[in-house]
Amino acid sequence: MAETIRNNGDARPKARRAIDSMAPYRPPTGGRQELLRLDFNENTLGCSPKVREFLATSLNVCSLPAYPEYSETRRDLAAFFGVEEESLVLTNGTDEAIQVLVNTYLDDGQECLILQPAYAMYRFYAEVAGAEVFALDYNPDTLAFPLEQVLESISASTRLIMIANPNNPTGGAISLKAIEQILQRAGNAAVLIDEAYYEFCGVTALPLIKDYSNLFVSRTFSKVYGLAGLRIGCLFTQPANAALLRKGQSPYSVNAVAAATARIAIQDQEFITGYVTEVLAARQLTEVGLEKLKIRYFPSDGNFILMDLGDRAERVVKGMRERGILVRDRGHEIPGAVRVTIGTRDQMDRFLVALREVLA
Ligand SMILES: Cc1ncc(COP(=O)(O)O)c(C=O)c1O
Repeated sequence: MAETIRNNGDARPKARRAIDSMAPYRPPTGGRQELLRLDFNENTLGCSPKVREFLATSLNVCSLPAYPEYSETRRDLAAFFGVEEESLVLTNGTDEAIQVLVNTYLDDGQECLILQPAYAMYRFYAEVAGAEVFALDYNPDTLAFPLEQVLESISASTRLIMIANPNNPTGGAISLKAIEQILQRAGNAAVLIDEAYYEFCGVTALPLIKDYSNLFVSRTFSKVYGLAGLRIGCLFTQPANAALLRKGQSPYSVNAVAAATARIAIQDQEFITGYVTEVLAARQLTEVGLEKLKIRYFPSDGNFILMDLGDRAERVVKGMRERGILVRDRGHEIPGAVRVTIGTRDQMDRFLVALREVLA
């Protein structure tokens, strides 16, 4: 018979090795409500007025006792994204898409290839799974995507590759040709192209899913749609892959309110294109403002810009907060780097005025 271990009340279960050795990841999401939030690449105006109206007047609370039902949401979202329903997996944000991919394709000790700096949750979920994480650096001077190195690093042991396009926090996007080169090299790997910022960039690998059985594309309602708090996104891939992903996914991971709201959100494309147009104009205005202040920045295809503030970075983050504006210190990844989310032109005017004051 197996030995029993007695507990006098203080025997703490031992965590898995992978969890024990991980650094905690706690993004600074507290106390942001009253401030100008240029720190998490969210929509700085909120969601579409039609979504607000739906949430205020048309949500059917009588449906809340029931577990969520996704058939109408899946039908509408598949039609909107131009894919067959079987190619779409609804997820609790991109984060769950990453988690489901890791759960489906990475065993303990298997190899995962990511870039750095990049979205923190790639490393997070791979480490939780106990995978071997190989991280390749963006070019330290230009922050360009190291395509040749990525291609050379892919081997038969590579099981999962995760790339954000455009990348956060560096801002740059890669071409579909580069993505195809990676897909062709990675015959043993699942390749995620995370398109959280697609709407600001316009390059999408979505049409490639019919040609590549190892391609997975994610989209989210957290950024341009202004619904980060609801937690909903989509993962697209060939139907046979999607069936595997669903096997390892909770059947109710997307809540009923999020599923109902996403259907309304996609209907208001006027709001989305209006916001994108505003952000692109504001991005240009911000670039001009930074040039006037002689601040180096990295060109961006997303709704954010990474600035190189050198030894002034900490002072700027603190000084901006004192003026009611949040920006994100990325110094732990690139010394002196601070990321600012691009909002409207008015908001970026306010940002530039405050930045000038802080630097004076
Ligand atoms: C590249 C990238 N992917 C995904 C996300 C988060 O997406 P979600 O809120 O859908 O989990 C972010 C958020 O910052 C991001 O930068």
